[in-house]
Amino acid sequence: KKDFIIIAIDGGAAAGKSSTSRALSSRFNLMHVDTGSFYRATTVKLLEAGVPAEAGDALNAGLANLELGTYIDENSAYIVVNDWIPDESIRSEEVNANVSHYAAIPELRKFLFDYQREQATIAQEEGFAGLVMEGRDIGSVIFPDADLRLYLYADPAKRAARRAAEGLADSIEKRDAMDANRKTAPLSVPEGATLVDSSELTLEEVVEHVSGLVENAYQK
Ligand code: CDP
Ligand code: CDP
Repeated sequence: KKDFIIIAIDGGAAAGKSSTSRALSSRFNLMHVDTGSFYRATTVKLLEAGVPAEAGDALNAGLANLELGTYIDENSAYIVVNDWIPDESIRSEEVNANVSHYAAIPELRKFLFDYQREQATIAQEEGFAGLVMEGRDIGSVIFPDADLRLYLYADPAKRAARRAAEGLADSIEKRDAMDANRKTAPLSVPEGATLVDSSELTLEEVVEHVSGLVENAYQK
Protein backbone atom coordinates (compact mmCIF):
# COMPACT_ATOMS: atom_id res chain seq x y z
CA LYS A 1 0.00 0.00 0.00
CA LYS A 2 1.28 3.45 -0.87
CA ASP A 3 1.72 6.15 1.74
CA PHE A 4 1.76 9.08 -0.70
CA ILE A 5 -0.11 9.51 -3.97
CA ILE A 6 -0.48 12.23 -6.58
CA ILE A 7 -3.91 12.90 -8.08
CA ALA A 8 -4.24 15.05 -11.19
CA ILE A 9 -7.63 16.58 -11.97
CA ASP A 10 -8.20 18.39 -15.26
CA GLY A 11 -11.28 19.73 -16.96
CA GLY A 12 -12.95 22.78 -18.43
CA ALA A 13 -14.07 25.90 -16.58
CA ALA A 14 -16.60 25.26 -13.80
CA ALA A 15 -16.48 21.50 -14.33
CA GLY A 16 -16.29 21.03 -10.56
CA LYS A 17 -12.53 20.63 -10.18
CA SER A 18 -12.13 22.81 -7.09
CA SER A 19 -15.13 21.52 -5.15
CA THR A 20 -14.19 17.92 -5.89
CA SER A 21 -10.49 18.43 -5.05
CA ARG A 22 -11.31 20.18 -1.79
CA ALA A 23 -13.64 17.40 -0.72
CA LEU A 24 -11.00 14.76 -1.54
CA SER A 25 -8.31 16.71 0.28
CA SER A 26 -10.19 16.70 3.56
CA ARG A 27 -11.38 13.12 3.19
CA PHE A 28 -7.91 11.67 2.48
CA ASN A 29 -5.67 14.31 4.11
CA LEU A 30 -4.24 15.44 0.77
CA MET A 31 -2.66 18.80 0.05
CA HIS A 32 -4.92 20.62 -2.41
CA VAL A 33 -3.43 22.86 -5.09
CA ASP A 34 -5.50 24.89 -7.55
CA THR A 35 -3.16 25.75 -10.43
CA GLY A 36 -5.81 27.94 -12.08
CA SER A 37 -5.15 30.36 -9.24
CA PHE A 38 -1.45 30.46 -10.27
CA TYR A 39 -2.40 31.59 -13.77
CA ARG A 40 -4.96 34.01 -12.35
CA ALA A 41 -2.51 35.55 -9.84
CA THR A 42 0.18 35.89 -12.51
CA THR A 43 -2.38 37.54 -14.78
CA VAL A 44 -3.27 40.09 -12.08
CA LYS A 45 0.41 40.99 -11.60
CA LEU A 46 1.16 41.28 -15.33
CA LEU A 47 -1.95 43.38 -15.97
CA GLU A 48 -0.95 45.60 -13.05
CA ALA A 49 2.53 46.05 -14.58
CA GLY A 50 1.04 46.81 -18.01
CA VAL A 51 2.66 43.76 -19.63
CA PRO A 52 0.71 42.68 -22.73
CA ALA A 53 -0.28 39.03 -23.22
CA GLU A 54 2.36 38.16 -25.77
CA ALA A 55 5.79 36.54 -25.77
CA GLY A 56 8.69 38.97 -25.76
CA ASP A 57 11.04 41.08 -23.65
CA ALA A 58 8.28 42.83 -21.73
CA LEU A 59 6.83 39.50 -20.66
CA ASN A 60 10.21 38.07 -19.71
CA ALA A 61 11.00 41.16 -17.64
CA GLY A 62 7.55 41.03 -16.06
CA LEU A 63 8.04 37.39 -15.05
CA ALA A 64 11.57 38.04 -13.77
CA ASN A 65 10.02 40.51 -11.33
CA LEU A 66 7.77 37.87 -9.80
CA GLU A 67 8.98 35.90 -6.84
CA LEU A 68 6.82 32.90 -5.94
CA GLY A 69 6.23 31.45 -2.51
CA THR A 70 3.78 29.03 -0.96
CA TYR A 71 1.41 29.51 1.94
CA ILE A 72 -0.41 26.58 3.53
CA ASP A 73 -3.73 26.93 5.29
CA GLU A 74 -5.38 23.73 6.48
CA ASN A 75 -5.42 21.36 3.50
CA SER A 76 -4.66 23.86 0.74
CA ALA A 77 -1.40 25.34 -0.51
CA TYR A 78 -1.72 28.85 -1.96
CA ILE A 79 0.63 30.80 -4.19
CA VAL A 80 2.27 33.95 -2.82
CA VAL A 81 3.53 36.46 -5.40
CA ASN A 82 6.01 39.07 -4.14
CA ASP A 83 4.55 38.73 -0.65
CA TRP A 84 1.01 39.18 -1.97
CA ILE A 85 -1.45 36.45 -0.98
CA PRO A 86 -3.99 36.43 -3.82
CA ASP A 87 -7.55 37.25 -2.78
CA GLU A 88 -10.91 37.11 -4.54
CA SER A 89 -9.66 39.71 -7.06
CA ILE A 90 -8.14 36.83 -9.05
CA ARG A 91 -11.71 35.74 -9.92
CA SER A 92 -12.80 39.11 -11.28
CA GLU A 93 -14.45 39.50 -14.68
CA GLU A 94 -11.30 41.24 -15.95
CA VAL A 95 -9.16 38.25 -15.02
CA ASN A 96 -11.73 35.83 -16.48
CA ALA A 97 -11.45 37.74 -19.75
CA ASN A 98 -7.63 37.85 -19.84
CA VAL A 99 -6.24 34.76 -18.14
CA SER A 100 -6.46 32.38 -21.11
CA HIS A 101 -4.49 34.83 -23.25
CA TYR A 102 -1.60 34.83 -20.79
CA ALA A 103 -1.91 31.09 -20.15
CA ALA A 104 -1.36 30.40 -23.85
CA ILE A 105 2.18 31.85 -23.73
CA PRO A 106 4.79 29.03 -23.52
CA GLU A 107 7.28 31.19 -21.53
CA LEU A 108 4.69 31.83 -18.87
CA ARG A 109 3.82 28.13 -18.61
CA LYS A 110 7.51 27.33 -18.33
CA PHE A 111 7.84 29.92 -15.58
CA LEU A 112 5.19 28.04 -13.52
CA PHE A 113 6.33 24.48 -14.37
CA ASP A 114 8.95 23.82 -11.66
CA TYR A 115 6.88 25.66 -9.08
CA GLN A 116 3.98 23.28 -9.73
CA ARG A 117 6.20 20.17 -9.53
CA GLU A 118 7.70 21.42 -6.24
CA GLN A 119 4.27 21.24 -4.61
CA ALA A 120 4.62 17.45 -4.41
CA THR A 121 7.79 17.82 -2.33
CA ILE A 122 6.11 20.37 -0.09
CA ALA A 123 3.11 18.06 0.42
CA GLN A 124 5.45 15.23 1.47
CA GLU A 125 7.47 17.45 3.78
CA GLU A 126 4.27 18.71 5.38
CA GLY A 127 3.20 15.15 6.13
CA PHE A 128 0.16 14.97 3.84
CA ALA A 129 -0.96 11.58 2.52
CA GLY A 130 -0.81 12.92 -1.02
CA LEU A 131 -1.30 15.80 -3.40
CA VAL A 132 -4.43 16.64 -5.35
CA MET A 133 -3.67 19.17 -8.06
CA GLU A 134 -6.25 20.61 -10.42
CA GLY A 135 -5.87 22.48 -13.68
CA ARG A 136 -5.84 21.93 -17.44
CA ASP A 137 -2.56 20.10 -18.08
CA ILE A 138 -1.81 18.39 -14.76
CA GLY A 139 -2.27 14.81 -15.98
CA SER A 140 -0.75 15.55 -19.40
CA VAL A 141 2.23 17.82 -18.66
CA ILE A 142 2.87 18.55 -14.98
CA PHE A 143 2.36 15.07 -13.48
CA PRO A 144 2.00 12.60 -16.36
CA ASP A 145 3.25 10.04 -13.83
CA ALA A 146 0.44 10.74 -11.31
CA ASP A 147 -1.10 7.77 -9.48
CA LEU A 148 -4.59 8.83 -10.53
CA ARG A 149 -5.47 11.10 -13.43
CA LEU A 150 -9.04 12.31 -13.75
CA TYR A 151 -10.74 14.37 -16.38
CA LEU A 152 -13.88 16.01 -15.09
CA TYR A 153 -16.44 16.66 -17.76
CA ALA A 154 -19.77 18.47 -17.54
CA ASP A 155 -21.72 19.75 -20.51
CA PRO A 156 -21.15 23.44 -21.31
CA ALA A 157 -24.71 24.55 -20.55
CA LYS A 158 -24.53 22.97 -17.10
CA ARG A 159 -21.18 24.61 -16.43
CA ALA A 160 -22.38 28.03 -17.56
CA ALA A 161 -25.37 27.67 -15.23
CA ARG A 162 -23.09 26.70 -12.33
CA ARG A 163 -20.84 29.72 -12.87
CA ALA A 164 -23.83 32.05 -13.31
CA ALA A 165 -25.22 30.74 -10.02
CA GLU A 166 -22.02 32.09 -8.45
CA GLY A 167 -23.03 35.52 -9.82
CA LEU A 168 -20.03 35.93 -12.10
CA ALA A 169 -19.79 36.84 -15.76
CA ASP A 170 -17.48 34.34 -17.37
CA SER A 171 -17.53 33.31 -21.02
CA ILE A 172 -16.73 29.72 -20.26
CA GLU A 173 -17.03 28.51 -23.85
CA LYS A 174 -14.63 31.16 -25.14
CA ARG A 175 -12.10 30.34 -22.41
CA ASP A 176 -12.41 26.59 -23.01
CA ALA A 177 -11.96 27.07 -26.75
CA MET A 178 -8.79 29.09 -26.18
CA ASP A 179 -7.49 26.61 -23.60
CA ALA A 180 -8.23 23.61 -25.83
CA ASN A 181 -6.83 25.08 -29.03
CA ARG A 182 -3.55 26.57 -27.84
CA LYS A 183 -0.32 24.94 -29.03
CA THR A 184 1.31 24.49 -25.61
CA ALA A 185 -0.29 22.20 -23.05
CA PRO A 186 -3.84 22.41 -24.43
CA LEU A 187 -6.78 21.29 -22.32
CA SER A 188 -7.28 17.66 -23.33
CA VAL A 189 -8.16 14.30 -21.84
CA PRO A 190 -4.73 12.93 -20.89
CA GLU A 191 -3.96 9.49 -22.30
CA GLY A 192 -4.99 6.85 -19.80
CA ALA A 193 -7.01 9.32 -17.71
CA THR A 194 -10.37 8.38 -16.22
CA LEU A 195 -13.23 10.46 -17.55
CA VAL A 196 -15.87 11.45 -15.01
CA ASP A 197 -19.04 12.99 -16.42
CA SER A 198 -20.68 15.12 -13.75
CA SER A 199 -23.39 16.65 -15.96
CA GLU A 200 -26.13 14.77 -14.15
CA LEU A 201 -24.37 14.21 -10.82
CA THR A 202 -24.38 16.22 -7.64
CA LEU A 203 -21.07 17.13 -6.06
CA GLU A 204 -21.65 14.45 -3.39
CA GLU A 205 -22.17 11.79 -6.06
CA VAL A 206 -19.00 12.82 -7.88
CA VAL A 207 -16.98 12.74 -4.65
CA GLU A 208 -18.41 9.33 -3.72
CA HIS A 209 -17.48 7.89 -7.12
CA VAL A 210 -14.00 9.44 -7.21
CA SER A 211 -13.23 8.40 -3.61
CA GLY A 212 -13.42 4.76 -4.73
CA LEU A 213 -10.81 5.49 -7.40
CA VAL A 214 -8.58 7.18 -4.80
CA GLU A 215 -8.81 4.16 -2.49
CA ASN A 216 -7.79 1.91 -5.39
CA ALA A 217 -4.84 4.19 -6.19
CA TYR A 218 -3.49 3.67 -2.65
CA GLN A 219 -3.75 -0.12 -3.02
CA LYS A 220 -1.89 -0.32 -6.35
O1 CDP B 1 -12.13 28.08 -12.06
P1 CDP B 1 -12.11 27.89 -13.54
O2 CDP B 1 -12.23 26.43 -13.90
O3 CDP B 1 -13.05 28.74 -14.26
O4 CDP B 1 -10.66 28.35 -14.08
P2 CDP B 1 -9.28 28.15 -13.39
O5 CDP B 1 -9.03 26.72 -13.10
O6 CDP B 1 -9.16 29.12 -12.29
O7 CDP B 1 -8.27 28.54 -14.56
C1 CDP B 1 -8.23 29.84 -15.12
C2 CDP B 1 -7.49 29.78 -16.43
O8 CDP B 1 -6.11 29.47 -16.17
C3 CDP B 1 -7.94 28.71 -17.43
O9 CDP B 1 -9.02 29.14 -18.23
C4 CDP B 1 -6.67 28.49 -18.24
O10 CDP B 1 -6.53 29.47 -19.25
C5 CDP B 1 -5.56 28.70 -17.24
N1 CDP B 1 -5.02 27.45 -16.70
C6 CDP B 1 -4.10 26.77 -17.47
O11 CDP B 1 -3.82 27.18 -18.58
N2 CDP B 1 -3.50 25.65 -16.99
C7 CDP B 1 -3.78 25.18 -15.77
N3 CDP B 1 -3.15 24.10 -15.32
C8 CDP B 1 -4.74 25.84 -14.96
C9 CDP B 1 -5.37 26.97 -15.47
O1 CDP C 1 -12.96 24.39 -10.20
P1 CDP C 1 -13.96 24.46 -11.29
O2 CDP C 1 -14.01 25.76 -11.98
O3 CDP C 1 -13.83 23.30 -12.25
O4 CDP C 1 -15.40 24.23 -10.66
P2 CDP C 1 -15.94 24.49 -9.17
O5 CDP C 1 -15.57 25.87 -8.77
O6 CDP C 1 -15.57 23.37 -8.28
O7 CDP C 1 -17.49 24.36 -9.42
C1 CDP C 1 -18.23 25.34 -10.11
C2 CDP C 1 -19.61 25.41 -9.51
O8 CDP C 1 -20.35 24.22 -9.83
C3 CDP C 1 -19.60 25.51 -7.99
O9 CDP C 1 -20.53 26.49 -7.62
C4 CDP C 1 -20.02 24.11 -7.54
O10 CDP C 1 -20.72 24.13 -6.31
C5 CDP C 1 -20.92 23.65 -8.67
N1 CDP C 1 -20.93 22.18 -8.88
C6 CDP C 1 -22.14 21.52 -9.08
O11 CDP C 1 -23.17 22.17 -9.07
N2 CDP C 1 -22.19 20.17 -9.30
C7 CDP C 1 -21.06 19.45 -9.35
N3 CDP C 1 -21.13 18.13 -9.59
C8 CDP C 1 -19.82 20.10 -9.17
C9 CDP C 1 -19.79 21.48 -8.94
